[in-house]
Amino acid sequence: MSEQASNQRIYSRIAGTGSYLPEKVLTNDDLAKFVDTSDEWIASRTGIRERHIAAEGETTGDLAYHASVRALEAAGVDASELDLIVLGTTTPDLVFPSTACLLQHRLGANGCAAFDVNAACSGFVYALSVADKFIRTGSAKTVLVVGSETLTRMVDWSERTTCVLFGDGAGAVVLKADDETGILSTHLHADGGKKELLWNPVGVSVGFKENEKNAGVRIRMAGSEVFKYAVKALDAIVDETLEANGLDRHDIDWLIPHQANLRIIEATAKRLDMPMDRVIVTVDKHGNTSSGSVPLALDAAIRSGKVERGQMLLLEAFGGGFTWGSALLRY
Ligand code: UT7
Repeated sequence: MSEQASNQRIYSRIAGTGSYLPEKVLTNDDLAKFVDTSDEWIASRTGIRERHIAAEGETTGDLAYHASVRALEAAGVDASELDLIVLGTTTPDLVFPSTACLLQHRLGANGCAAFDVNAACSGFVYALSVADKFIRTGSAKTVLVVGSETLTRMVDWSERTTCVLFGDGAGAVVLKADDETGILSTHLHADGGKKELLWNPVGVSVGFKENEKNAGVRIRMAGSEVFKYAVKALDAIVDETLEANGLDRHDIDWLIPHQANLRIIEATAKRLDMPMDRVIVTVDKHGNTSSGSVPLALDAAIRSGKVERGQMLLLEAFGGGFTWGSALLRY
């Protein structure tokens, strides 16, 4: 990639989107057959009714590939035209190479830069922000941004406080350099001091010893504390995003939030004085797919015809780290 000197402003525009969900669907009633929960509890506390589960052997890279093929097709872009692939995931296929590199090869985009971003559920928004910087500086013209996860691989299916929340899925976006406005701004934050409220405390360097007390490759979450922090952080980032662009909350056409909990989504919508029919909600069908969630919701909104060209979209996410971020864009 080479830097390009130019006085003209360059924006990243969404040229196409795609998404993919594994075939298998697990409903709340299915879950209630093997863990002490109910459809009533899950739906009223989270808004979730069902989620998709990756088949045995089906990986984050597989989901990413299918979503990416659809996004490239929608954009009318050949994989060989890509300058960069940025993939948000916290459930990579392998320790290394990155899932982005595996995807690059499978798509036939050989030669372009490719790397993963791990920001847990904010992974896609982080990846989008990184890709936008590459385009704005003239370092890349055509970029594939993906959020893909197989989070159910690290769920303890006997732990009702977490296993009902997560699902698998992927979404992808092709960004192209344009002199017309696309992404207006992105905003990223993190608070590493809260790591133990939402984490999976194993890894290459600390080890994967599953027999240690409180260890094991599974998600741990202090749900109500995460909930409270998330609502505050998202309120603040919504204000920050509007202020940075000199916009009023009524200037936003669509809110496309991270799909963790309908009650968190409703709180952000309230902050924006936005009726729920201007908010894209997929949490009922997808559960929390971590970094897959925002691009899955975005693709669903575009393909259903709800979101139209020229409209102002606010994307936001919150996740482990803690991390949180937003992107404001004219579609
Ligand atoms: O994507 C990353 C960010 N993650 C999030 O944003 C998630 C944030 N947190 C949440 O969405 C919510 O806190 C949860 C959905 C995880 C939990 O909802 P809550 O309203 O905060 O419930 P709670 O944890 O305070 O639990 C209330 C009760 C407890 O019983 P007691 O102690 O009141 O008797 C739990 O044991 O609900 C019980 N409970 C369940 N009952 C039936 C917890 N999980 C379940 C379950 N089914 N699956």
